[in-house]
Amino acid sequence: MIAINKINQLYGSSQILWDLDLQIEQGSCTCIMGRNGVGKTTLLKCLMGLLPISSGEILLEGVPMHNKLAEDRAPAGIGYVPQGRDIFPLLTVEENLRIALPVRRDKAKQVPDKIFELFPVLHDMLARRGGDLSGGQQQQLAIARALVIDPKVLILDEPNEGIQPNIVQQIGDVILKLNAEGLTVILVEQKLGFARRVGKEFRLMERGRIVASDKMENLSDELIRQYMSV
Ligand SMILES: Nc1ncnc2c1ncn2[C@@H]1O[C@H](COP(=O)(O)OP(=O)(O)OP(=O)(O)O)[C@@H](O)[C@H]1O
Ligand SMILES: [Mg+2]
Repeated sequence: MIAINKINQLYGSSQILWDLDLQIEQGSCTCIMGRNGVGKTTLLKCLMGLLPISSGEILLEGVPMHNKLAEDRAPAGIGYVPQGRDIFPLLTVEENLRIALPVRRDKAKQVPDKIFELFPVLHDMLARRGGDLSGGQQQQLAIARALVIDPKVLILDEPNEGIQPNIVQQIGDVILKLNAEGLTVILVEQKLGFARRVGKEFRLMERGRIVASDKMENLSDELIRQYMSV
C-alpha cells in the first residue's frame, strides 16, 4: 500500500535518512521502532511532505507522493498525528475537528458520529478550548482530527509520550479497533509493551536505515538489545 524506495534526506549537510526502503501492506499495523534520534520522525515527515527528500520515491497505492505538496497528501488519504500532538490550543474541540472536514473526499459537513463513538470524552468537551484539555485528551483530539479526513492509512508518531496509563490503554483499544476494521496503521513507538500489544509487524531503525523487518511475534530479545534503549 505504501512503498518507500531508497529515500535520502539531509538537514543541510547532515544526512539523516540513507537509501531507506519501507514497504507497508494494506491492512497492516506496523510499528517503527528504534532509539532516539535514529530518524523515525524525519521519515514520517518525508512521507507527509513536511521535509523534502533528495532522492528516492514514495508511493501510495502505486501513486507517487514524493512530487506532491504536503497539503495534497492528506487528501490522498494519509492521516497524520505528529509527535507532540500539535492541536490548535485556542480553538475549541469542535473547531479542531471541523478544520479537517474539507479534506474529506465525500465533502461531509458534519464530524461523523463514529469519531465520538471512538472518543466519547471529546463529545462531552466540544465547546472547550483544545489547550484546556489534559495531555491525554489532546492526544485523543489529535488522533480524532486525523480520522476526520477518513484516511486510508493512519500514521502516529509516539502517541503515548507523556500520557497517563489509562489513556494509553484507550488509545491502544482505538488503534486495535480501527485496524480490525481494515484501516492501515503506521505507528512510531518506543514502548515495547504497547508495540507488542497493537503491532502486527515491526521495522527497526538505526542511523537512518531500516535494519530489521518482521512480524511482531518475531521481535527477539537480541534485536531489542541491539536496537532499542531498554
Ligand atoms: N530541524 C533539524 N535540523 C537539523 N537536524 C535535525 C532536525 N530535526 C532533527 N534533526 C536531527 O535528525 C536526527 C533524527 O531526528 P528525528 O527527530 O527524526 O529522530 P527520532 O528517531 O524521531 O527521535 P525521537 O525518538 O527522539 O523522537 C537527529 O540526529 C536530530 O538531531
Ligand atoms: Mg521522533
